[in-house]
Amino acid sequence: MVESGALGVVGAGVMGSEIAFLGAAAGDHVTLVDTDPGALAAGLDRARAIAQRRLAKGRLTEDEARGIEGRIRGAESVSALSDCAAVIEAVSERMEVKLAVFEAFGEQLGADTLVASNTSGLSITDLAQAAGRPQSVVGLHFFNPASVMPLVEVIRGAQTTDAVVDRAVELAKRYGKTPVRVRECPGFLVNRVLVRAMVEAYREAESAGVDPTAADAAVAHGGPAPMGPFALGNLVGLDTLLSISTQLEGAYGPRFSPGRLLADMVESGNLGAKSGGGFDVDPDAPPTKAAAPVSQRYYGAAIAEAAACAREQIADRRDVDLALQLGAGWETGPLAWAASQGIDETDTAEV
Ligand code: CAA
Repeated sequence: MVESGALGVVGAGVMGSEIAFLGAAAGDHVTLVDTDPGALAAGLDRARAIAQRRLAKGRLTEDEARGIEGRIRGAESVSALSDCAAVIEAVSERMEVKLAVFEAFGEQLGADTLVASNTSGLSITDLAQAAGRPQSVVGLHFFNPASVMPLVEVIRGAQTTDAVVDRAVELAKRYGKTPVRVRECPGFLVNRVLVRAMVEAYREAESAGVDPTAADAAVAHGGPAPMGPFALGNLVGLDTLLSISTQLEGAYGPRFSPGRLLADMVESGNLGAKSGGGFDVDPDAPPTKAAAPVSQRYYGAAIAEAAACAREQIADRRDVDLALQLGAGWETGPLAWAASQGIDETDTAEV
């Protein structure tokens, strides 16, 4: 079955509003839900601003932009989603918040609704249980900025049916994305590799006294990633990144430890692009020799984690590389890049 018609998106943050745009751009009527009226208004504005930006760039006609904007409406309760063919949850990355939303899904959504979570690494199986209908729940993980990055990770929970996984794959394709099926594990595939590399770079920069601009220049010029880890943290949201790395530290150990630089930024309320503030970086700065170790640690960690994911069959080697290219904009995936540089993937950072 190919989904069409009505999409519900729960959580009107950056991710939720970008996903709402994608649904409306594919022709669906989208209801964006947030219990906070201010957040809802901001999310609706954000989704409509994407259409306006594309109109200004000549990528949409006026009619198309108006059509997209007209297909997105707001609501303050999940009860507005009872007729949706598919619902995607994109609330804050905290288990207790998501569990409450999934319990509401169990009570309020139609029996045939495809229920997806955009969690970046929490257990789909646990969320599915909370909904009381585990067979129809699946992970659909988009990447920042979701209106631009082509990848969607599709994650099946322990009880997700094949038919539901297929419907999720079709939905992702209809929204113009490339779905990659990923076996469930904390962080799934791309975040496991990317967050590992990012926090490794943060810790190295802190201990070597390298500032964010120099660290970013080293990474952006030292391998296939399109931007450095500090600018990327600002883009993803530093509170989201701290929460993901803390969860992954709990699951995998100290190689995911966020370090002080990140924790201090979040404590001071500087959360990156969404709050204003964040790490101070100049994307045009040239690379310096002194910062080269940050780049080595960044790519070494990414390669080691990517190799571990392939070994554990989280995805096959080709999809591991493809996912980093499509989800994080890498010119070449980490495993292919390691091979091209003569880097032994079993001899990088510890996993
Ligand atoms: N929000 C929304 N759209 C943005 C954006 C932002 N912060 N930054 C750039 N864009 C859009 C631009 O408007 C432009 O859109 P159009 O094509 O519709 O005009 C498009 O992205 C390309 O932008 P630019 O040409 O200005 O810039 P670029 O070529 O340097 O690309 C980038 C910008 C796409 C962000 C690129 O640098 C990139 O791929 N970076 C890596 C991003 C990444 O790793 N994302 C994954 C993060 S992990 C995650 O999201 C998972 C999680 O669970 C936390």
